[in-house]
Amino acid sequence: MTFQQAQSRAARLREEIAGHNRRYYVDNAPVISDFEYDILMQEIMYIEQMFPDLRSADSPTQKPGSDLDAKERGFARYAHKYPMLSLSNTYSEEELIEFDQRIRKGTELPFGYVCELKLDGTAICLSYEQGRLAKALTRGDGSIGDDVVQNILAIKEIPKQLPAGNYPPSFEVRGEVILPFEAFDRLNQSRQQNEESLFANPRNAAAGSLKLLDSAEVAQRGLQCYFHHLPEAQVTATLHSELLRMAASWGLPVLHSITIDGKQETTIQVCRNMEEALAFIRHWNKKRTSLPFAIDGVVVKVNELALQLALGMTAKSPRWATAFKYKAEQAETRLLSVDYQVGRTGSITPVANLSPVLLSGTVVKRASLHNADQIALLDIRLSDTVLVEKGGEIIPKITGVLTQFRPLEAPPIAFITHCPQCGSLLVKEEQEAKSFCPNIWECPPQIMGRILHFMSRKAMNILGGEALVEQLFKRGWVHKGSDLYKLTKEQLLGLDNFGEKSAQNLLTSIADSLSAPFSRVLFGLGIRHVGEATAKYLASRFGAIEALEQASEKELTESPEVGEVLARSIRNFFAQPVNQILIQELTDCGIQMREAPRNRISDALLNKQIVISGNFSISREAIKELIEQHGGKTTGQPSAQTDYLLAGAKAGPAKLQKAAKLQLKIISQEELNSLINNGQ
Ligand code: IVH
Repeated sequence: MTFQQAQSRAARLREEIAGHNRRYYVDNAPVISDFEYDILMQEIMYIEQMFPDLRSADSPTQKPGSDLDAKERGFARYAHKYPMLSLSNTYSEEELIEFDQRIRKGTELPFGYVCELKLDGTAICLSYEQGRLAKALTRGDGSIGDDVVQNILAIKEIPKQLPAGNYPPSFEVRGEVILPFEAFDRLNQSRQQNEESLFANPRNAAAGSLKLLDSAEVAQRGLQCYFHHLPEAQVTATLHSELLRMAASWGLPVLHSITIDGKQETTIQVCRNMEEALAFIRHWNKKRTSLPFAIDGVVVKVNELALQLALGMTAKSPRWATAFKYKAEQAETRLLSVDYQVGRTGSITPVANLSPVLLSGTVVKRASLHNADQIALLDIRLSDTVLVEKGGEIIPKITGVLTQFRPLEAPPIAFITHCPQCGSLLVKEEQEAKSFCPNIWECPPQIMGRILHFMSRKAMNILGGEALVEQLFKRGWVHKGSDLYKLTKEQLLGLDNFGEKSAQNLLTSIADSLSAPFSRVLFGLGIRHVGEATAKYLASRFGAIEALEQASEKELTESPEVGEVLARSIRNFFAQPVNQILIQELTDCGIQMREAPRNRISDALLNKQIVISGNFSISREAIKELIEQHGGKTTGQPSAQTDYLLAGAKAGPAKLQKAAKLQLKIISQEELNSLINNGQ
């Protein structure tokens, strides 16, 4: 390799890795597996070793990826007292033995290791002042992090106030926030029902949850957190294992062991040498699929703190620790056939039907094939023996073909040319990997998908799922979002499984949706590439639907948040006559097509914290909005800071009890109204 070749390859790799870092740390939606990412990192490390002149300060080998958003989300940012590093990693036992030899070379003194499970979540750094939780910073870019303390407080194991103990007056502790599989599945199921995009794996879900703006929502998700590191010499100790015991004795969650199938298993093991560490690693490679949460390996740390100090660190990671990573599990199976799914935007996704095979404890029958390019790249043929992998993702991926087992006349996969649902000729735009069905107005899965999206919780928040939408569509009553507002009780009573009460509930939730703020309406329109956050941004930037509609592609891209693809998608949306009709009809129904004036109506509830529980005559969203319009704030759980518990019909007994214990004032909807009216 010449210097020039190395230079251009390094530049390409850096760009590619920067893109993957953004997708992993900021978007929480990676497109490649950790293993594929690590291969790219290996390559750039190798090039920089051969040509040290190419090692620049901004190389991904010199700094960890950053979770800081380009856009401000409103979290306070603080500098880390001690930089938050990442870990070197390896997939091979030989390299681990070399790691051991390197350390041995540097010291005459005896030393040992501590092995810990490498929890696959997102890093967090807590600071306690006088035993009280003061900050919770994400890794950020390693030097500066976002303070997500409100969300961290929504994790029940994390003490807000440590009981009296011999901890330092001020200290920092590092840990990992994870989402156990059960909670992850629950979250994705509800997202699926709401037609929201699914999290690819528990790590992304955990990281995404920490950046939510609504702590009450975070509390619902069931995150957990375990601590594994006390940086620098904040307390006097000689061993890392001692530090972990201390942290646990102060009341912080440290995962020393876990019960699997009735048997207690050690999850933090003190090892006398690398042999013992390898035994721990091999043990957990067998057992890891029985854990209730995801791990991606084992962290091996030098136990002696003095030796840790002597070894020091590189710009990116400590020299005294490394991660042994487990490769994602693979299985071999036959490709039987390919189906094509049509999404709400008309996008076509090929899905492989496989001969059922056991993988990471579940039977896999289907795998995503992504798009035509991916099929061509892997050169997959029908009847091929393929490798499937499940790297913590929900939908397994086909990662390779064992061509030696290919039957002689295995036919190539002829990607469909017409929509499997409506028969339209598919289109594929330049630069887009996906094919689309252009028949937006008549293709049934697109119509139903759009209605479901419009009704989803983060959009208009209208009750009902797929079964209801299918009935409404098949009876010819609802073709687009605005048709929902024309439904009558008589019609609803004729639907399967609909009684007086369910009909009334649906009509109430449709009526309530008229007060959904403009940003949610905009999200609900289903413009391609306009997610929840983008919709919020566009709503506040343009203020009203006409302004967005009239903005040229150039004006749109002038906003720092809007790229060319998004701008084109917005223009295309408004250019469709059917969308014009939809917007007109929605406006006529009285739906919010402009941002509500920011001005508060009154200060009657200024700085009052209110917890809401139970049902009211208006929706919970409407109650929340009402409180905010009068200067109040709503939070998820009663605490000492809470001013009122607003209790409606069927208020949660747990919340009522907690409120009583805290001696909070419990008020009714009428009392809330009089508080508001008296304050004016
Ligand atoms: S120690 C300076 N121990 O893995 C050393 N990290 O890939 C700090 N992680 O940033 C890390 N489990 O977020 C350590 N038992 C464990 C861990 C662990 C998970 C995460 C952590 C770290 C990342 C590095």
